[in-house]
Amino acid sequence: MTDTTRDFLAITDLSREDLLGLLDLAERVKDQTRAGVCPQPLAGRTVGLIFHKPSLRTRTSFEVGVGQLGGRSMFITDREIKLGERESIADAARVLSRYLGMIVIRTFHQKDIEELAEYADIPVINALTDLLHPCQVFCDLMTVKEKLGRVEGIKVAYFGDGNNMARSWINAAKLLNIDLWIATAPDTHPGVEFMTNAMTGAAGGVTVTDDASAAAKDADVLYTDVWASMGEKDKAKEHAAMLERMQLNQARVDEAGRDCIVMHCLPAERGREITDEVMDGPHSVVFDQAENRLHGQKALMIWCQNQH
Ligand code: CP
Ligand code: NVA
Repeated sequence: MTDTTRDFLAITDLSREDLLGLLDLAERVKDQTRAGVCPQPLAGRTVGLIFHKPSLRTRTSFEVGVGQLGGRSMFITDREIKLGERESIADAARVLSRYLGMIVIRTFHQKDIEELAEYADIPVINALTDLLHPCQVFCDLMTVKEKLGRVEGIKVAYFGDGNNMARSWINAAKLLNIDLWIATAPDTHPGVEFMTNAMTGAAGGVTVTDDASAAAKDADVLYTDVWASMGEKDKAKEHAAMLERMQLNQARVDEAGRDCIVMHCLPAERGREITDEVMDGPHSVVFDQAENRLHGQKALMIWCQNQH
């Protein structure tokens, strides 16, 4: 980034005020898009989408979003650039900054994204690493606000693997007054060191438990994600055995608040971490949630360009 632009590598790159302001901006951008008018802050710019892992939602919503903001997108796989192998990440960042107006990157290691951002003169957006998925949680907060009318003073129950999604929710609880419960197994814990760092001076609270019912009790949001993430599908069987009791099923919905919403970042492995009954049930907002990836990320790109 430069003095006038910003990176978005983690939810904690934002202050509470930034985050609440960005949620308002996302709402306005969604209304404008639906009314057929859209700001064009990316006119004349090309956004590079570097993806080292598969994607349906993130790639599509960013490509469409860039177009709606007046820019062009270029999809770049690791086959071409071999980030950090053909040349250093720093040199790749310096070169890409001469062509592109922004980089959106999905890869394995958070430190690679941080290095890219350090040497790039253009904004860098984290489109998922093994550690975090901040775009998803930002857009999910937009959906929570739409459905519940607030993002603070709520209980969020997350069921399953203590992965990039769980850690991004922990970061959200650092900024916002959220009572976050993570129902997981001891070996799929999101990481004691990560939690200790994240929760120092946090606005919200995090409880990690192996009691799925306690997590669900009176919750406003029930959230789950796959039990084995991209890049660790070899752990699928082992995780399934450990996380069986953390399935998001009707029993959990019955224990939650009467007006609770059910969320899943998708893709879902139906019948594993979530049942069909719940995913297709009256509390589920998963497809509205997927739509908001488009609107929320447009707000994030505008914020990174510092043009709001
Ligand atoms: N939720 C999400 O990021 O989906 P994709 O992996 O399909 O982009
Ligand atoms: N935890 C999942 C999220 C997918 C959007 C993964 O990293 O594969």
